[in-house]
Amino acid sequence: MERVRGHLPFNPHEGIGALVWVKVVGVGDSGVGKTCLVKRFCEEKFTPKFHPTVGVDYGFKIHTIDKTDLRVHFWDMAGRVEYYDVRNELYSQTQAVMLVFDVTNRASFQSLEAWNRETLRCSSSFPSVTIIVANKVDQDIERAVTREEGERWAASHKMEYCETSAATGEGVNGMFDKMLSDVLKVAIAAQNASNTSMTKIK
Ligand code: GTP
Repeated sequence: MERVRGHLPFNPHEGIGALVWVKVVGVGDSGVGKTCLVKRFCEEKFTPKFHPTVGVDYGFKIHTIDKTDLRVHFWDMAGRVEYYDVRNELYSQTQAVMLVFDVTNRASFQSLEAWNRETLRCSSSFPSVTIIVANKVDQDIERAVTREEGERWAASHKMEYCETSAATGEGVNGMFDKMLSDVLKVAIAAQNASNTSMTKIK
C-alpha cells in the first residue's frame, strides 16, 4: 500500500519522543537467571534450557509506571568472567542495575560484592538504582541462602531486596515495578534539579 503524508492519524515521532527512556542492566554469576527474568517480564515466557549469554542479550518493553510510559531497554550481561570487556563497554548511563543471585547457589550470593564493585567502577556518574534479586525461589528445598541473609546484605548496602522465580513468575512483575518506579523518582528529581527534558535520558 502506498503511504502518503498524513496517512497515520498521529505523528509516530512525537509518540516515541514522549516516552521516557530507561536503561537497565542485569548482572550476576552465569546461570543465576538474568536472561530468564528479562524474558519473563518482556515476553511472559520461561525456557528451562540453559543457553549461556554470549556477550550481552537485549530486551525491550514499554511499561507504564504512575501513568508515565517508560521505554525500557534491558542489557542482560553475560555472567562469565571472560566477558568483562564487553560488559565494561555497556555500563555507561545505566539508570538501574539488577544484581541477581540464585538462592540455591551460595557462591552466586557471595559474588554480589564483586558484581557491585564492577558496576560502580564501570558506570558513569548518572544516578542509578540498584536492586538485589534473589532468584529461583521456586526451588525452596534446595535453598542455600535465607531471605534474612539476603535482606541483611541489601540493607547493609542501602539497596532494595526482592525474591523472584522466573520459572513461575512469582515476584517478577513486582520487582520490575519497584525498580522502575524508583528509577522514575530519581529521574524526576534529577530533572527538577537540572531542568532538562526527561526524553533526553537514554
Ligand atoms: P548467563 O547468560 O550465563 O549469564 O546466565 P543467566 O544468568 O542469564 O541465566 P539464565 O537466565 O540463562 O538461566 C540459567 C538456568 O537457570 C536456565 O536453565 C534456566 O531455565 C534456569 N532458571 C532461571 N530462572 C529460574 C528460576 O526462577 N527457577 C528455576 N527453577 N530455574 C531457573
